[in-house]
Amino acid sequence: MTESLWPDDVALAEASAETIRLTDGLIERLLVVPPGREARVYDAMRYSALAPGKRLRPLLVLAGSRLFGVPRRSALQVAAAIEMVHAYSLIHDDLPAMDDSDLRRGRPTCHKEFDDATAILAGDGLLTMAFEVLAHPDTHGDPAVRVELVAALAIAAGAAGMVGGQMIDLIAETETLDIAAITRLQRMKTGALIAFSCEAGAILAKAAGDNRTRLRGFAHDLGLAFQIADDLLDVEGSAAETGKPVGVDAAAGKATFVSILGVERARAQADLLVGQAVAHLDFFEQRAELLRQVARFVVNRRT
Ligand code: IPE
Ligand code: IPE
Ligand code: MG
Ligand code: MG
Ligand code: MG
Repeated sequence: MTESLWPDDVALAEASAETIRLTDGLIERLLVVPPGREARVYDAMRYSALAPGKRLRPLLVLAGSRLFGVPRRSALQVAAAIEMVHAYSLIHDDLPAMDDSDLRRGRPTCHKEFDDATAILAGDGLLTMAFEVLAHPDTHGDPAVRVELVAALAIAAGAAGMVGGQMIDLIAETETLDIAAITRLQRMKTGALIAFSCEAGAILAKAAGDNRTRLRGFAHDLGLAFQIADDLLDVEGSAAETGKPVGVDAAAGKATFVSILGVERARAQADLLVGQAVAHLDFFEQRAELLRQVARFVVNRRT
């Protein structure tokens, strides 16, 4: 399948709806429940990975991939893989030993719907399956590209990225971190997977270093803006809109941009970062309009 994705002036709502449809369609096919007793872990994986979320990371993969004319089939494989890693990170984030949350995407969290052990295994299953998906020939004909994707996602998701950020995030409940330390924590915990999502299209296209650098610059600022927006929603949002409990960061005594800067300055910082992020896309002119729309959505969202 070599269909390209969307014209330059595609509306965000349309691209987003199609991203959800295509990504969920592929995840459905990848997570067919087998007949054996292990079906329970598949049920839990499906429950979380197919729950109604924004599919922002898949959208970034597809929006970045279309800059380079990457075939839809390839981009979708990466979109499904990153969403699986994201879903795993949410399942484990919600566990009693971590944020101890009962509500996710407007539904009971995985460990509430199933049990703690099943939720841990569902996360493990999603994380490992993501790499199986990236390694599959459908992702790219060139094994070197597949290995590059596997390595990039491993670094982004692991102790140098998301997992390390989650570790520091837990420490931030008991230790007072300054703004530099919080910036680093947010870039690791959230920024790393967002950066992978933005750069994946360039990897799939074997794009020149300059274009990789531009997308990396965009992602660097966007990832931080995204987490500041998440922290603002924890203060200003509602469970009805976000589908998860609010007020939990303050209740846990967690240091965030909002707890240190206050709501006004945190919002100004997020806006500034998005302005900075989109400036990295100037080179792509009209072709990057969808990525610009996604960036603006990231700081204006209510969900
Ligand atoms: C929530 O991510 C977790 C963070 C990294 C802050 P999203 O806001 O992208 O959650 P979903 O995927 O839409 O549920
Ligand atoms: C979690 O951050 C980020 C992950 C790596 C899962 P949060 O703990 O702030 O995410 P929410 O607010 O529960 O979605
Ligand atoms: Mg957390
Ligand atoms: Mg949480
Ligand atoms: Mg949060």
